[in-house]
Amino acid sequence: MSDATIIDGKAFAAGLREKVAAAVTGLKDRHGLEARLDVVLVGDDPASHVYVRNKGKQTEEAGMVSVEHRLAVDAPEQELLGLIDRVNGDPAVNGILVQLPLPDQIDEQKVTAAISPEKDVDGFHVVNVGRLWTGAEAPVPCTPYGCLLMLKETLGDLKGKRAMVLGRSNIVGKPMAALLLAEHCTVNIAHSRTRDLPERCAEAEILVVAVGRPEMVRGDWIKPGATVIDVGINRIDAPEKGANEDGSPKTRLVGDVAFDEAVKVAGAITPVPGGVGPMTIACLLRNTVIAACRQNGLPDPEV
Ligand code: GUN
Repeated sequence: MSDATIIDGKAFAAGLREKVAAAVTGLKDRHGLEARLDVVLVGDDPASHVYVRNKGKQTEEAGMVSVEHRLAVDAPEQELLGLIDRVNGDPAVNGILVQLPLPDQIDEQKVTAAISPEKDVDGFHVVNVGRLWTGAEAPVPCTPYGCLLMLKETLGDLKGKRAMVLGRSNIVGKPMAALLLAEHCTVNIAHSRTRDLPERCAEAEILVVAVGRPEMVRGDWIKPGATVIDVGINRIDAPEKGANEDGSPKTRLVGDVAFDEAVKVAGAITPVPGGVGPMTIACLLRNTVIAACRQNGLPDPEV
């Protein structure tokens, strides 16, 4: 059997960003409106810094206004809630994103609930979660939506497909299951306590993996010909690449799926890096321009 088709998330995301940029131009030229995304970063987690920098850069490249708010790692919860209150009330702000995870002194649920649902471009507010599960119009969490777009591009109609979502986080697993259900898939959700996990995964025509464990899913967990979406981004030691100047081993990025094994079995698969990752920010930009239109009583743009 020939190797799986590699799903090019990088190219797909570039196409989506172009559509968003065109919608932003339309908003400006026809209505004199600027779309604006405010991102809040608390503390100095290096990975979060990289994400936030990339978000800011791509927001500006799409023609939107990007504002970054930085709070100290020991900032009290009240300071963050006060900031959210201010941006909620600022009509110039269309989208608000508070980068997760947050330091221990801050209650993530309280923060998510404080963001105005109309400006919640992550789709994490309970009102938006409820809207998603009940089929109402809502901003859809960015990573699962990016996965869905790639699945539709690869498979076309998803109706009746047997899907397995491995991972049950609020950010990826649960909203992914809601989206696949809305596409009329038969959906299973598996997790660390699932019995016979490899066998359950091997029944799936669509396998979405978001567990944060490097290369956990092996080739024999995959149904021949299945479409595999790997959400994991894990940095592992790569001694085969040699050492850094300080003697520490060089590292490389891997997904939650053992790619070299899976590519021999799957029908199509996303690589890491270059699969799901680039789609997430593109979907965030999409949610922001949609939010800007809705807040100004305009129809949704074609993105
Ligand atoms: N941290 C990791 N992924 C995300 C995301 O999609 N949104 C937010 N706000 N924080 C994250």
